[in-house]
Amino acid sequence: MATTTQAVERASVARPSTDTNEPTVRMDAPTRREFMYYIWGASIALLLGQAGAGLLWFVFPRFREGEFGGVFPFNPADLPPVGAAPEWVAAGRFHVSNTENGILALYGVCTHLGCLPKWVASNVRFECPCHGSKFTRDGSYIEGPAPRGLDRFSSTIIFTDGTSAVTDDTGDPIPIPEGKTIAEIRVNTGSKITGPANG
Ligand code: FES
Repeated sequence: MATTTQAVERASVARPSTDTNEPTVRMDAPTRREFMYYIWGASIALLLGQAGAGLLWFVFPRFREGEFGGVFPFNPADLPPVGAAPEWVAAGRFHVSNTENGILALYGVCTHLGCLPKWVASNVRFECPCHGSKFTRDGSYIEGPAPRGLDRFSSTIIFTDGTSAVTDDTGDPIPIPEGKTIAEIRVNTGSKITGPANG
């Protein structure tokens, strides 16, 4: 009998009244089924909350400008002349290299085991202090155990006439067209492009 079962399941709690004229208030404790519903609802709400927080984490940028993983503005005044030693930006862990073919930002971490290759002016190349890998000015592999050339960061060059050029999928240097003046360089350390294959 349903009514009998409910009566057994529900435990009634009577709150004592101090006023003898006041009617007694009865509060029914939740049944086991109701309790399970509450737990189930709370679990679903928690799951949805976590999914929503995860979505927001992906949608909104996680790194501020000038923070590794985000975009670094690079002052064109600091750009080395073509053929000069690349400019090291420690906070962004990249070198800005100005080559005969254009400008590129090289990730400063060796593709072998993660040491930091240094620019050696006397040899006009990057040399890794750990196991001796060597790389050209544009990060191409020369010799050593490194499996490929240095990785690159996607960059955007904005010119004074309002036009701009962006690193393509190869990560090759961005050529500077004749007569254009660079207004701003932006290096995205959150967008790494695998370095060129050896050979
Ligand atoms: S870490 Fe650079 S050569 Fe091994």
